[in-house]
Amino acid sequence: MTSPESTILGELLASDPNFVSGTALARKLGMSRVGIWMHMEKLRAQGFEFEAVRGRGYRISRYPAGINPLLVLAHLKLRRRPFDLLCLAEVDSTNDEAERQLAGGRATPFVVLARRQTLGRGRFGRVWHSENGGNVYASFVFRPQLEPGRMTTFTLWMGANLCDLVANFCRIQPGIKWPNDLYIDGRKLGGMLTEARIDSDQIRDLVFGLGLNVNGPLDLLPPEFSGRVATLADCTGRPVDLNRLTAAIIGRVLSAYDRFVDGSYRETFADLWNRYDILRGRPVTLVQGSRRIAGVAGGIDDEGSLLIRGENGRPQRFPAGEVTLEKSERKGAG
Ligand code: BTN
Repeated sequence: MTSPESTILGELLASDPNFVSGTALARKLGMSRVGIWMHMEKLRAQGFEFEAVRGRGYRISRYPAGINPLLVLAHLKLRRRPFDLLCLAEVDSTNDEAERQLAGGRATPFVVLARRQTLGRGRFGRVWHSENGGNVYASFVFRPQLEPGRMTTFTLWMGANLCDLVANFCRIQPGIKWPNDLYIDGRKLGGMLTEARIDSDQIRDLVFGLGLNVNGPLDLLPPEFSGRVATLADCTGRPVDLNRLTAAIIGRVLSAYDRFVDGSYRETFADLWNRYDILRGRPVTLVQGSRRIAGVAGGIDDEGSLLIRGENGRPQRFPAGEVTLEKSERKGAG
């Protein structure tokens, strides 16, 4: 999904901080210099500014604040397979918008991004505070036609990929807390919410939601979150380029999805999971309804169930539940 505007941005970003001549842009896009100028006017209307120097050309001198779909696409220009990108200023929940788009017949894959969510939600119907325009709120939407039984490792695989991407992008060490939390240094960095619709024993619709704290100042969160939440900007000590990061996330999620569907993810899943698993070898308590199981986490099995070794030393497997680390273990995890 490219537009002349995202191609122009892509060219300018690729050469930054050098200038790109109007002639080179016109040649690249197969249009006149007047045509280029008109598309640059459209970009100006979105908040971009350009420095234009006679004889040298253009370069970007100012970016619009927050997430911008053209910038995301410009950063993502190497994408192999087409997808649709929807970027909304505000929505109730990107997962709910994804459902509405699916119901309206939108072709998959597509990605819904929002600057703010008014009803962002997490696991167990919890609120996902999404007031802040500096973070990622995204849903990735697919129609995989897979047996539901194949999905037990899906969120785990995505989470391990996202940890790996964030680790490389920001040069930090995040971790994953089974089954859907991204952590760093004992604080929550993000969460995933996968929702699926099943039709005649096949997954028909699959919505993978991701909330990631990037630049959003934490003081917008209710006081009970104090000290329990982290942002990438906190960890790196400087603002993170939200559009470039979002593009990298989209690229990674789409290719991780392809590898999940064709089964090749099995070759690297265990290694990737073990690299980022923050629970392994630590004392944990798992809550499953009214049941509480205490023991030492021992990784996951092939189906993605959590293994917990109790006092008798034998591992028990748990396909679902909410797990907490012993209090003394929390700081420093991830
Ligand atoms: C959790 O930690 O329980 C999961 C949080 C998932 C939040 C994301 S933000 C984008 C998508 N839309 C939602 O309403 N939720 C997910």
